Amino acid sequence: MSSVTLRVADSTDELNRIAAENVARRARMAVEARGRCAIALSGGSTPRSLYSLLAQPPYAAQMPWRQLYFFWGDERCVPPDHGDSNYRMARESLLAHVPIPASNIFRVATEAGAPDAVARSYEATLRAFFGSPAGAVPEFDLILLGMGSDGHTASIFPGSRALTETVQLVAPAYAEHLESHRVTFTLPLINQARCVIFLVAGADKAASLSAVLAGDLAYPAARVRLSQGDLYWLVDRNARSR
Ligand code: 6PG
Repeated sequence: MSSVTLRVADSTDELNRIAAENVARRARMAVEARGRCAIALSGGSTPRSLYSLLAQPPYAAQMPWRQLYFFWGDERCVPPDHGDSNYRMARESLLAHVPIPASNIFRVATEAGAPDAVARSYEATLRAFFGSPAGAVPEFDLILLGMGSDGHTASIFPGSRALTETVQLVAPAYAEHLESHRVTFTLPLINQARCVIFLVAGADKAASLSAVLAGDLAYPAARVRLSQGDLYWLVDRNARSR
């Protein structure tokens, strides 16, 4: 049975505290139940402060770091040390500051070639980790997502091919407005997760958040509807101002 929870925080600090508490709780739940927790991180700017908070007391001590396995829900097709890299942002704000074995970190190999080759390579990495044969859809324990002011999530943009992908778990994507090539989890993979946490902040997201929560499928984030998992919308008051 899937569930949807909406929490509205009065400030960015409160939003990050709520998010950190939920991430730590879900990570412990997964490790207790299955001995490990597979987490897919989101990129952009919103989660940076959450990642930094998770690396500090009291949350750092609450996370079973050695049983956590980190992936990325989307990645820009740039080198890992590039300023636009979601991997670099997570490494700088979190991964470099906590005791995670390097073998637990599954960076998108953006150097593997063109975006389609990068997507194929990362899907193979996911299937190998989960032991999922072709046709099966792996179940992430936790996927963190953000949302753009156009209602995109991960790198699933309105009207894009990735939006209607039903077979591939990872697809190439192109952010027209940013002239940015990327790869992204697709909805079949996202909707199979045991838990998805959206972190949305800022008044510029208010109109699209209102439409998404009303179920307007023109907005990609509205298509995140978990088949059996728990969906959390953690938003600040500015994003929920409409
Ligand atoms: C990315 C993210 C993307 C992000 C939204 C919101 O790679 O850009 O995965 O989906 O979550 O664009 O970005 P901000 O947090 O910067 O507003």
